[in-house]
Amino acid sequence: MRIGILGSGSGSNMQAILDAIEDGSLDAEIALVLSDNPDAFILDRAKQHDIPTALIDCRGFKTKFPDEAQTETAAALKDAEVDLVCLAGFMRLVKQPLLDAFPQRILNIHPSLLPAYPGLNAWKQALDDGATEAGCTVHHVDAGMDTGPTILQAKVPVLPGDSAASLHARIQVEEHRIYPEAIRIVTGVAS
Ligand code: GAR
Repeated sequence: MRIGILGSGSGSNMQAILDAIEDGSLDAEIALVLSDNPDAFILDRAKQHDIPTALIDCRGFKTKFPDEAQTETAAALKDAEVDLVCLAGFMRLVKQPLLDAFPQRILNIHPSLLPAYPGLNAWKQALDDGATEAGCTVHHVDAGMDTGPTILQAKVPVLPGDSAASLHARIQVEEHRIYPEAIRIVTGVAS
């Protein structure tokens, strides 16, 4: 199974998927890593592992994912013969035509127990809201923001004295565990 990954930041979730492949618990290959951010560390991580990378050109748009860039992204993923697309810290909203190119084959990881706290900085939303429980969700991507059907969730406690950073770090431990597991569930691919 060939996976394409889209990310805008550090790429620790991509690293978790790669680790699962390397330790033999996920029978897959990361075929391509795409980023809208030329400085994203996810690109460095991919290069360190000889994984092909490409930039998604969204110049002129701070947050929007223009149709043209979505078409180019879909073409790059098809050229790389990708079977499954994983969003891993990708901060733009995927819509048609990318959705149409990979029906039921685009997953996302989000740092909250959806449907609670969609959107940006979900762990901070939970903290500001006085939540006693937080977590993460892997879900199918549809045209909404963090709205597709859930595949897996994991909970973590919000502890007294938590900062946004400490809570996010606790959530990320669970993200790294459930993302490879969700891929196994969706594709039926284990080693
Ligand atoms: C992760 O916590 C992920 O859930 C979040 O960005 C972080 C990326 O970390 N994604 C979103 O908030 C998407 N709405 P990473 O680059 O280290 O994988």
